Amino acid sequence: MSESNVEDRSQATMEKIVSLCKRRGFVFQSSEIYGGQAGAWDYGPMGVELKNRIQRFWWKEMTQLHDDIVGLDAAILMHPRTWEASGHVENFTDPLVDCKKCKQRFRADQIDPAKLAKKECPECGGELTDTRKFNLMFKTNIGPVDDGSGLLYLRPETAQGIYVNYKNIVQSKRMKIPFGIAQVGKAFRNEIVIKNFIFRTCEFEQMEMQYFVKPGEDEKFFNYWREQRWAYYAKLGVRMDKLRWHQHGPDELAHYAKDAYDIEYEFPMGFKELEGVHNRTNYDLSRHQQFSGKDLQYIDQESGNERYIPFIIETSAGLTRQLLMVLCDAYEDQKVGDKGNEDDWRTVLHFHPIVAPVTVAVLPLMKKDGLAELAQDIRRELKDEFATDYDQGGAIGRRYRRQDEVGTPFCVTVDYQTKEDGTVTVRFRDSMEQIRVKREELEATLKKAIKEYKRG
Ligand code: GAP
Repeated sequence: MSESNVEDRSQATMEKIVSLCKRRGFVFQSSEIYGGQAGAWDYGPMGVELKNRIQRFWWKEMTQLHDDIVGLDAAILMHPRTWEASGHVENFTDPLVDCKKCKQRFRADQIDPAKLAKKECPECGGELTDTRKFNLMFKTNIGPVDDGSGLLYLRPETAQGIYVNYKNIVQSKRMKIPFGIAQVGKAFRNEIVIKNFIFRTCEFEQMEMQYFVKPGEDEKFFNYWREQRWAYYAKLGVRMDKLRWHQHGPDELAHYAKDAYDIEYEFPMGFKELEGVHNRTNYDLSRHQQFSGKDLQYIDQESGNERYIPFIIETSAGLTRQLLMVLCDAYEDQKVGDKGNEDDWRTVLHFHPIVAPVTVAVLPLMKKDGLAELAQDIRRELKDEFATDYDQGGAIGRRYRRQDEVGTPFCVTVDYQTKEDGTVTVRFRDSMEQIRVKREELEATLKKAIKEYKRG
C-alpha cells in the first residue's frame, strides 16, 4: 500500500464514525426498532460516559476554575411570554419552500437562487411553493384541554432560563458584576435539515455561560471570553490546527447580537460551527424587563449605586456536537504492522484520558491459575479513582485492539510474573509502549500519565 493510500485509509469519515458508534455502544438511532426517529439519537453505555465527561470537563472549566461563575439548572418548560420577549416567536424562523410534485421541503436559502427565482424544485424540477417563514420552536400543551390556552414551547436554547433567573441569582448569591451563570441542558429545534449524524438534531444539549458586565466593558470581556474558549479546546487535547474562528457578517448576526464569532472545527464534511461567542448587548434583559414589568436593573454599589441593565457576553457550545467533534478528532485507522493482512491495522480513538469513557482496563493474561482473581482484585483497587473495565475473553492482542477502539488510554495486564513479584504491565494506547510497575505504584503511575498526557 502506498503512503498516500495509508494516509487515506487512516482518515476519519462520517461513515466510519457512525459505524463505530453503533458497534461499540456510543450512539444509537432513536427508536430504531420502529424504523428510527429522525432528528433524535440515543447515547449508549460508551456515549453517555463520554458525554458526561465532556460536560464535567466544561463545568469544571467554567465554574470551579472561575470564581465569579455560578451554576443553574432551569426548567425546559418556561412561561410562553419568555419566547415573545426573547424574539424567538417572531424571529426564530427558517425560510422554507415545498415542492408541489415530490413533496420535499427545502430551506430557501440553500437552493440555487436561479432555481428559486423560477420556483423550480432542485430534486425533481417540479413547482415550488412561495417561500414561507417556518418557526423552529416545538410547541406543546400544558393541561388536559388542547385548545391553545395551554400553549408552551420546548426551549430552543438554554440561555433564557439564565436571563429570567438573573435577579434571583444576584440576590441569593450576592453576585457582583462582572459575573457569570453557567448551565447545561436539553434544547429543541424543529430543524428541517438534519443530516451528518448528531451534528444537527432536533433534540440536543447545550453548555451555555452568560457573563453579565457593565455597559462599555462588553468588548473587553468579549475578547477575554474568546481567548478563554479557544484555550479550553487546547486543554481538551483537540488538534488545534483543526479549529478556526469565523466572525459573523451583518447578514448572519442573530437578532440579539452586536458581534459574534464561531469556533469552527474541520469535521469530515468540512469546517462547521462548534460553538459561538456572542455579544448579546442588553437586548435580552431589556426585553424581559419590558415584557415582565419587573425591574431588572443592576444596582452597582462599586459605582455609587449606579443603575443599569447589564450587557451579556455569551459562550454557547453544543454538548452533543462537541461529542461528535471529540470522536472525529480522536479517530484514527492506524497501520501498525506489515503482515499484509487486516491485522496490520488498528482503529484507535485518541481521547484525552480526562474524557475517555474507560480510563483503565484490567486484563488477565489467562483466566486460569488465579490470574483472573488477581486481576479482579487489582481492578477493585483502581475502581474508586478511575473508570475501569475488565476483559478476560480472547487473545491479549485482540483485547488491546478492543480497548483501542473505544479509546481506553491505559491497559493493565496481569500475568504470571505478577504472582511472583507483584508487578503488572501498563500498556499505553497511543504509543503501544509497555512498562512494568509495582502494583502499589500503579495508581500514582496512572495519575501522573493522565496529568502529563499529550497525544502521541
Ligand atoms: N444561545 C445561543 C445559541 O443557542 P446557537 O448558535 O443557535 O446559539 C449554540 O447555538 C450552539 O448549540 C451551536 O454552536 C451548536 O454547537 C449547538 N447547536 C445549535 N443547534 C443545534 C442542533 N440543531 N443540533 C445540535 N447542536 C446544535
